[in-house]
Amino acid sequence: MLLKIGVLVSGRGSNLQSIIDNIEKGDLNCKLEIVISDNKDAKALGRAEKHKIKRKFIDPAEFTTKKKYEDKMIESLGNKGVELVVMAGFMRILSPYFINHFENRIMNIHPSLLPAFPGLDAQKQALDYGVKISGCTVHFASEKMDDGPIILQRAVEVKEDDTEEKLALRILKEEHKILPEAIKLYEEGKLEVKNNKVYINK
Ligand code: GRF
Repeated sequence: MLLKIGVLVSGRGSNLQSIIDNIEKGDLNCKLEIVISDNKDAKALGRAEKHKIKRKFIDPAEFTTKKKYEDKMIESLGNKGVELVVMAGFMRILSPYFINHFENRIMNIHPSLLPAFPGLDAQKQALDYGVKISGCTVHFASEKMDDGPIILQRAVEVKEDDTEEKLALRILKEEHKILPEAIKLYEEGKLEVKNNKVYINK
């Protein structure tokens, strides 16, 4: 059985692309049922279109409350039977209501080694701090931003002459590997969450 996934995006969609590519190569046994964006100009929507994937722009401004907006997302994901939700550059904080609806079934990718540097501009935060190693994290989403049980992390060297762009690119290359890897582990039923920690069953 193919795992039904839904991807939430806001922008460029390079992580979405890596999921699409891994599905098309046959490395992921998933069906990408729907891509939902909160931004109508997201490049990610064009990528979905190109690969004939159902896509939907849900405009948060059209809803009077966050709950109504999230209910619309829950309905769209539910109608497609989505089992796993992947936040791939989705720039909106989800409420506990949404998170609890999909408990331990929402993955997020973040460009730092969490719990260091959550929030916006994680690569700039790493440069400003002067860390020698940064990286990326895939985790299950919790009620707090960029928090929750960690599934996979990959370390990346921070170089002395790095700019934000250079570091972001180096990290992004690893993001494109660990997000599909994490989805694959989920799809194979190998992830177990106990006491806020993820155990990977071999
Ligand atoms: C990535 O760096 C991701 O870790 C962060 O937002 C960025 C999205 O990039 N959450 P893209 O839209 O997947 O290209």
